Amino acid sequence: MRLRTAAGLGAGGLIVATLAFAQTTNDAVTFPEAYRNDVHYGTVTRGNIREELFASPAALAAAREGRPFPEGTIITMEDHRDGGLHRYVVMEKRAEWGRISRAGQWQFREFAPDKSPNPSEDGSRCAACHQSQAANDFVFTTRQMREPK
Ligand code: HEC
Repeated sequence: MRLRTAAGLGAGGLIVATLAFAQTTNDAVTFPEAYRNDVHYGTVTRGNIREELFASPAALAAAREGRPFPEGTIITMEDHRDGGLHRYVVMEKRAEWGRISRAGQWQFREFAPDKSPNPSEDGSRCAACHQSQAANDFVFTTRQMREPK
């Protein structure tokens, strides 16, 4: 009886620890202050939405050559609605995240126009949708990367 209780607590502790780990992971994605030094490789417009896309020359080279994106790649998207900046969405790739990410080695995070992270977005919704692009290393806009405008 006593042993059983201990085992039950052990499993509970493990679950709590795993959840805490999963939640802290997207905290590691900080606002990419230097993103405007990257290449502005495309614009996507849809109704009242205008998205501006930024990535490094090394990332664009990988897309052109059909290789996976290099370690440390950061892709930044400005999301404008009705002519005003609505939010930023950022994805960052690190080998160490391969174990915990649901989209390859990427983590996803959303930031408000003042660059503060959205605490209610842990990135799992983002990863779920980006999974459809697994064949392109989880990135939708590889075509724009190959032919930046
Ligand atoms: C319902 C599907 C969906 C969800 C959810 C989603 N995305 Fe995306 N994301 C897209 C699509 C589609 C594009 C390509 C641009 C476009 O067509 O709007 C994109 C583009 C991007 C890009 C530019 C690189 C690329 O893949 O082309 C980043 C960065 C990004 N999303 C981050 C995020 C983050 C962070 C979240 C969560 C806060 C998120 N996305 C949630 C579908 C999604």
